[in-house]
Amino acid sequence: MFLLTALVLPVLCGAGLASDGHFYRRTDPVTGQQLLCDRCPPGTRMRAHCTSSRQTECVACGAGLFTEFWNYIPYCLRCEACSDHQQVVRPCNGTVNTVCECEAGFFWDQHFCRTHSECKPGHGVQAPGTPHRDTVCEPCAEGHYANIMQTHATCVTHSACKADEQLVLPGSRWHDNVCATCDHLTQKDWVDLFKSVLSGLHVQYGTSTERLQKLVNRRLRKKRFGKHAALHPTQQLQHWSKETSQEEPLNLPSILEESHLNLLADRIARKIRRSQQHCSKTPPQAL
Ligand SMILES: *[C@@H]1O[C@H](CO)[C@@H](O)[C@H](O)[C@H]1NC(C)=O
Repeated sequence: MFLLTALVLPVLCGAGLASDGHFYRRTDPVTGQQLLCDRCPPGTRMRAHCTSSRQTECVACGAGLFTEFWNYIPYCLRCEACSDHQQVVRPCNGTVNTVCECEAGFFWDQHFCRTHSECKPGHGVQAPGTPHRDTVCEPCAEGHYANIMQTHATCVTHSACKADEQLVLPGSRWHDNVCATCDHLTQKDWVDLFKSVLSGLHVQYGTSTERLQKLVNRRLRKKRFGKHAALHPTQQLQHWSKETSQEEPLNLPSILEESHLNLLADRIARKIRRSQQHCSKTPPQAL
């Protein structure tokens, strides 16, 4: 196949350049006479060279074969099959080869269809990928974030807290502002508030969300805080962030996961403390 292609291509290319594009020169092997033979039209190939007494004989290419140019090749070319993650844009029809294109979610990179890149945390999609180009990402500007739970998110503005809400955790480039009402802070399961942040940690550090949730719940609720169980969750959180420094031996992944959580827990604890001070100044809510 390679050999055939190598032999055939110069002939095909020559066809376009020659001034006598529909003819070729040949010495008759019997008479030694110089002949000007007809080339075969696209969609056909040569079966027999011309002689001094008859024209070139051409035959149509069979199914799955093609010739694109006026030629005198003995075999038609094989239609290309689309490769992995490609789809047929135009089928082979005897005169044109198959035209393939990467399917949705892929782009052509040298010799393969590669998956469109996802933007790194803190980066949003500036231009979505096409079959011919990878995704173009941009770092989110100040006050904007790209939701890293969504693989092809653009940078959007941090949402503003509502009038009755406090900013508990300011947004970063990879998560939105976390806002809560005083009710929310004193009554509801606050882990719920940070769900998107925890999920973000999952994407960013490859820790499973369920594991993070379990870790937080376990640390805060049962194991370590048995004696503090009566405390408010935010106080539990403060205890937790103080006590996690003196840990039992842990394996590396959980050390990592905890250090990220601890940083976050400290921030959250500080914010919640501040918010609670603010809440305590407002009329008490029914518990
Ligand atoms: C094959 O397709 C091309 C482009 O669509 C067209 O120009 C040509 O006439 C077709 N050839 C045959 C044999 O149908």
